[in-house]
Amino acid sequence: MKYIIFNWKSYLNLKESENLSNIISKIKKSKNYKIISAPNNFFHLSLSKKFKANTFAAQNFDLDGRGASTGSLDISHLIENNIKYTLIGHSEMRSNHGENDKIIHKKLELSIENKLIPIVCIGESLKVYKSKKTKNFLNNQIKTIFKKSHMYEDIILAYEPLWSIGTGLTPDLSEINEICKFLSNILKKYSFKKINILYGGSVNLSNVSDILNLQFVDGVLVGSASTNSSFINYFK
Ligand code: PGA
Repeated sequence: MKYIIFNWKSYLNLKESENLSNIISKIKKSKNYKIISAPNNFFHLSLSKKFKANTFAAQNFDLDGRGASTGSLDISHLIENNIKYTLIGHSEMRSNHGENDKIIHKKLELSIENKLIPIVCIGESLKVYKSKKTKNFLNNQIKTIFKKSHMYEDIILAYEPLWSIGTGLTPDLSEINEICKFLSNILKKYSFKKINILYGGSVNLSNVSDILNLQFVDGVLVGSASTNSSFINYFK
């Protein structure tokens, strides 16, 4: 079974998010795919009432979001709407909202405490990629985000090279497979009940099947292509 995660970012309005959720809800439950969508956080309240709430992910939540915290989204607000998954550390949260691996570590702990399944995003810049330091960089990210002393339950890790997100560029298939294998090897030093390693960054209709066929890839995290019904219907 492979995870298919749709990150709708802020591309869609409520009506459009409902339309796509409707298409997803009609896709027969399959043994091959588990589809989760991450609509704009603003829409969870409405969507979780109309569709299965446990098929939605939050795009983010705030640390200390409860109380005197104007404009925040607290993790409890997700839980009361029965949201089951949350993205953590997406590159756009890192670049637009100053999120770093230490904050991501705290969010990971909080999501686990609250039984929300985290989809943790990591990935290197073009500079790091070009200087062939990707593995070293990802290893350092993992070390800051995960603790060896902790027993992790169900975790999804998304490898998303920053230079690939929204650019139409992707690493070669062999590189994707090699990095996901590398990640699964380093994660053996940590305790996970279940870990799934996904690839994200410019996944679209023309490359999705090749990526999903890679041995060490447990699924994909898809941004702009997932706002298109023809992409969603691929998983029918
Ligand atoms: P993209 O985005 O598929 O549009 O490149 C992926 C992501 O940001 O998760």
